[in-house]
Amino acid sequence: MSSPATPLPTLDQPDRYGRLSRLAHWGGALLTLTMLVIGVVAADVLPKGPERKALWAWHVAIGVFAFVPLLARIVWRVQAMLSGRSPQALSPAGWQRVAEKAGHGALLAVLALMVLTGPLMVWSGGHPLHVLGWFDIASPIEENKALHYRTGLLHAVGSKLLIALILVHLVGAVRHGRAALQRMAGRGVAA
Ligand code: HEM
Ligand code: HEM
Repeated sequence: MSSPATPLPTLDQPDRYGRLSRLAHWGGALLTLTMLVIGVVAADVLPKGPERKALWAWHVAIGVFAFVPLLARIVWRVQAMLSGRSPQALSPAGWQRVAEKAGHGALLAVLALMVLTGPLMVWSGGHPLHVLGWFDIASPIEENKALHYRTGLLHAVGSKLLIALILVHLVGAVRHGRAALQRMAGRGVAA
């Protein structure tokens, strides 16, 4: 008979992620994948027209609401990594452990790039952020064509890099198998 699981701790343990980190990871992953899918479909799949315009409007609106949660998610993990609160890496010591840590760090860095360049691209183009006609967020900066071009380029290149990193991340998660899923999605500690 299997023993009952003890409640999941709120904070990370050396061998598993706590409730807050799991909420941050899965909530962040859901928001990120939603933004990626909408962005890729609008940019590369749909022809110019009202449907594409509507999808961009949703991309910007979800981006506005996701801004604070995504930045909070990033800060939460970086703080955990720096303070040594993060669970120990699963990979054996050596290049594999370095690659695991670098991969997670790169995911967070590119995510931050996306979240910051998104609104900057709109504002530097001389527009407010339109949130589905509900409200606008006026630009705090002057129109700046050079900045608009650079942030647009970084946002587009960043999105391709993010896709590549997520694919590598999924391969890593599959390679670690149950052990990785268990500590990010498993139930409490078996008593
Ligand atoms: C998780 C964060 C985000 C992801 C993954 C993401 C993803 C994408 C992708 C894949 C594209 C298409 C790039 C291309 O190939 O041209 C795009 C474009 C764009 N994104 Fe984001 N984005 C994010 C955050 C944001 C935010 C926060 C905003 C603004 C509030 C924003 C505004 C835009 C705009 C205005 C475009 C260009 C639209 C156009 O070309 O007319 N994005 N994004
Ligand atoms: C549905 C797709 C995903 C799956 C199945 C998945 C799976 C996992 C698993 C199992 C871990 C724990 C690894 C360990 O034990 O140390 C993990 C950690 C991590 N994942 Fe994902 N992941 C997904 C999507 C994402 C996305 C979209 C991002 C970022 C944009 C991301 C960023 C991270 C980061 C930075 C970590 C390190 C811990 C943390 O910061 O939360 N993951 N992922």
